[in-house]
Amino acid sequence: MATRKLTRRQAITAASAGALGTFVNWTFPSITINGTSQQKLAINGGEKVHTGTWPEWPVWDQAAEKNITEMLRTGRWWRGEGEHVEDFEKRYADLLGAKRCLATASGTTALITALKAVGVDAGDEVLVSPFTFIASYNVIFMNKALPVFVDSDPETFLMDPSRIEARITDRTTAIVPVHIYGLPVDMDKINAIAKKHNLKVVEDACQAWLGEYKGKKAGTLGDAGCFSFQNSKNLPAGEGGAIVSNNDALMDKCTSLHNCGRPFGSVPRTSAYPISGTNFRMQQFQALILMSQMNRIQKDADIRLANALYLDANLKDIPGITPAKLVDSNARSAYHLYALRYNSKEFNDVPKERFIRALAAEGIPCSGGYGPQNKDGLIEEQLSSKGYRRLFTEARLKQWREENVLPGNDKLCSEAVTFYQSILLGSRSDMEDIVKAIRKIWQNRDSLKA
Ligand SMILES: Cc1ncc(COP(=O)(O)O)c(C=O)c1O
Repeated sequence: MATRKLTRRQAITAASAGALGTFVNWTFPSITINGTSQQKLAINGGEKVHTGTWPEWPVWDQAAEKNITEMLRTGRWWRGEGEHVEDFEKRYADLLGAKRCLATASGTTALITALKAVGVDAGDEVLVSPFTFIASYNVIFMNKALPVFVDSDPETFLMDPSRIEARITDRTTAIVPVHIYGLPVDMDKINAIAKKHNLKVVEDACQAWLGEYKGKKAGTLGDAGCFSFQNSKNLPAGEGGAIVSNNDALMDKCTSLHNCGRPFGSVPRTSAYPISGTNFRMQQFQALILMSQMNRIQKDADIRLANALYLDANLKDIPGITPAKLVDSNARSAYHLYALRYNSKEFNDVPKERFIRALAAEGIPCSGGYGPQNKDGLIEEQLSSKGYRRLFTEARLKQWREENVLPGNDKLCSEAVTFYQSILLGSRSDMEDIVKAIRKIWQNRDSLKA
């Protein structure tokens, strides 16, 4: 059966209009799962489905070299003497529709700064998603506050808003929703709870450049949003980060904090260093790399979206395979990773790790997502430290340990399977190979047991 192809523009329009169902039905032939042809799995010595290569990341644009060489020759490498970091901040704020942007040394330093700027202090509690990179909660420890995990909704891979209020105490100051893999959190619900309890919201949008929720970009929906530009990211510069916000006073404070506490804007000039800050500044060459990478970010995002929609449409009918669900029909993921859940029951109880190895053998690289980080060693190391035992009562720390039970997150960790963003920059035939390989593994699941 011939496949009618949508142009990229049509695909994006269909998706943004919430017309995924229509797009799915007339664009791609439905897959037959109960096919009769049994093939030997590559993991058992059969031929692999995908024999080609995958797009590499990051992609360098030689056109940027002239600007970088010129800047290097001036010796004005730090932001205090050059215009490039500021230029990047303006461009990034415009791209997201935010009033202000502050570039930082990394996503971690952006989060530390934003949390401090919204008022998180020693002895406070901050609600955070457990399905994330360690930095999301490590930055709470860095501010000498207590990260309190809110269970995940396995369907969306995100903080479950219905579980937030039970975790609020009189010490809670902020919520850190994480748009993990670029999947936007249900920010209306988070903001409503924050307003009701007078909490600040710092979005961890470190994986969510150009993700969208109800027409607004991820990272622009809370009090502040933080981004990472580390090398693997969809907008890479080796290292780098940014804070965005529409709140001038907050951004003035962030600017001051990240520049050793020097006065800036509304931060009063009562002394040379009126507030206690540190050096989290971005360098000029990072900004030039970022501006070069920004030339491709929208085009790449559109390709990833069209390919992800294809995968959503064609994987969902394979038993045991469930793509991540968006929280809203108008939400758009940034697809830092394409995420699905693997239900081993539908694969004769073959463990996820074996499924991942079988897919890799078919030429499809993927990985297993995050582990249950609420049980990570660094947490107990912090809770039992001298400082935390001074900041929190024994009863509170005991209660924290007792409540650190997250069944939704445990389920998610055991089922998540992810595909890295550059895979989604592949061709339509590459995407067909992903579907074919997963279908082949399901059809041949009897021969998959180790
Ligand atoms: C969700 C999340 N938060 C925070 C960070 C920290 O960013 P960085 O590595 O730039 O410090 C990352 C980076 O991987 C991340 O993925």
